[in-house]
Amino acid sequence: MKPFSQFFVFVVTVSATSYIDAFTRNDFPNDFLFGAATSAYQWEGAFDEDGKSPSVWDTTSHCDSGSNNGDIACDGYHKYKEDVMLMAEMGLESFRFSISWSRLIPNGRGRINPKGLLFYKNLIKELRSHGIEPQVTLYHYDLPQSLEDEYGGWINRKIIEDFTAFADVCFREFGEDVKLWTKINEATLFAIGSYGDGMRYGHCPPMNYSTANVCTETYIAGHNMLLAHSSASNLYKLKYKTKQRGSVGLSIYAYGLSPYTDSKDDETATERAEAFLFGWMLKPLVVGDYPDIMKRTLGSRLPVFSEEESKQVKGSSDFVGVVHYNTFYVTNRPAPSLVTSINKLFFADIGAYLIAAGNASLFEFDAVPWGLEGILQHIKQSYNNPPIYILENGKPMKHGSTLQDTPRAEFIQAYIGAVHNAITNGSDTRGYFVWSMIDLYELIGRYMTSYGMYYVNFSDPGRKRSPKLSASWYTGFLNGTIDVASQDTIQLQRKCSGSSSL
Ligand SMILES: *[C@@H]1O[C@H](CO)[C@@H](O)[C@H](O)[C@H]1NC(C)=O
Ligand SMILES: *[C@@H]1O[C@H](CO)[C@@H](O)[C@H](O)[C@H]1NC(C)=O
Ligand SMILES: *[C@@H]1O[C@H](CO)[C@@H](O)[C@H](O)[C@H]1NC(C)=O
Ligand SMILES: *[C@@H]1O[C@H](CO)[C@@H](O)[C@H](O)[C@H]1NC(C)=O
Ligand SMILES: *[C@@H]1O[C@H](CO)[C@@H](O)[C@H](O)[C@H]1NC(C)=O
Repeated sequence: MKPFSQFFVFVVTVSATSYIDAFTRNDFPNDFLFGAATSAYQWEGAFDEDGKSPSVWDTTSHCDSGSNNGDIACDGYHKYKEDVMLMAEMGLESFRFSISWSRLIPNGRGRINPKGLLFYKNLIKELRSHGIEPQVTLYHYDLPQSLEDEYGGWINRKIIEDFTAFADVCFREFGEDVKLWTKINEATLFAIGSYGDGMRYGHCPPMNYSTANVCTETYIAGHNMLLAHSSASNLYKLKYKTKQRGSVGLSIYAYGLSPYTDSKDDETATERAEAFLFGWMLKPLVVGDYPDIMKRTLGSRLPVFSEEESKQVKGSSDFVGVVHYNTFYVTNRPAPSLVTSINKLFFADIGAYLIAAGNASLFEFDAVPWGLEGILQHIKQSYNNPPIYILENGKPMKHGSTLQDTPRAEFIQAYIGAVHNAITNGSDTRGYFVWSMIDLYELIGRYMTSYGMYYVNFSDPGRKRSPKLSASWYTGFLNGTIDVASQDTIQLQRKCSGSSSL
């Protein structure tokens, strides 16, 4: 299969004004990692095969009727060799994926599933044999259902011990070949979106929040995530780090934030939003405690670290994982946020009104690259310039609309330019991962929208993959045949045989 045979010439038009300085792959450090990402539930399928037991994501997606679920998804479980080959052809330097806890340890704790273990060993071996660096996420929304049923998952401190034991198995079994571990995917949004007045996974029909402890749950779940993360980091340090020499990190969902006006009020509102959306997780990791503004605002609703916990959490991340899609202007109005109709409470706690910069709808998703540059600058300045990996960034488009996804290639290019600017200004950013390597089952858009650089035909039993223009753009950027000249936009034009749309 020659995936790029249908794409040819790139015509680059240079526009007069310049946001991005000229750059090529070679303007990034040699050991900077350019990659692409997926997650277990969204890519693997094989939801009940070879000893895997259900996760909360299976339960929730089965509430939808029909095939609107990840039962098969991309069938990555069976097609991983083909996908690794596509990655190699694309020139990916790194692949981010997650480990399904309930595939590896079906009951959540105890017995290891040999076939699950073998799958991940094979996948990692396949990546390594193609020179692709694995960047592994341990938790990507897919708690074993048994642990949700037994004690409510992340809302209960019992998760700390179970998560640490799960991490122990992963470090022990895969740590020879995996050097980059992200403990929890977008921990901030996970806590906001799944607890409090968010949508709790693993219940069908969904749980009724009027009876739950809406006001404290988000912060308790977040607290337990920090404790579970740091407990696993501690274990890594004691048992594995000397020998395996890897790094462990936590990832947050990072909104770009900027004051709506230059008034003092909007500036302080922005600082509050930064404290809640970044400081909530990053301040404990750096200094061992929550931001003062959160403590003052939330009082007894915010859990307190014991002295021992504070010591354990402080310094427990070797890097910060950034998941970034949207940017907002912040204004000092005590109104519920526009961010989403659920999880109003968290945004009401911030006490600010967020207005999207650019269109952030799933079908019309504008690039706002200065938002990411601002995030990288903020993290550098406020949290002692930690190493950063951008673990997700990408553009949704209607699934199957076209293989010629020029707007996606332009989007990715603009954000890579923002990363380049930030690095030039001293940010210790070490990697950038496009979400997603191929079309996936999506949390919000299901199969309606996709982010992939490869198209997947989800009606085809073989789940046939076809490269989009963005894949070819990325290849060209990575192999140095595409220079991003001083320009705002790049126009990619296809000159080829065959149809231009699906
Ligand atoms: C949720 O609980 C409230 C109060 O008990 C009740 O009025 C409401 O109908 C319930 N909603 C659902 C969807 O069950
Ligand atoms: C964003 O795009 C969607 C889809 O094209 C459109 O319906 C919506 O009005 C746009 N919103 C804004 C704020 O421009
Ligand atoms: C570059 O870094 C300096 C020092 O942190 C900061 O003052 C400045 O605002 C940064 N520039 C940009 C464009 O972020
Ligand atoms: C997807 O696969 C189905 C079933 O094999 C086929 O009928 C359809 O034409 C394919 N769609 C595209 C866009 O290739
Ligand atoms: C670089 O990538 C382009 C696709 O953008 C491809 O056509 C070309 O063959 C690649 N060149 C090398 C030397 O790998």
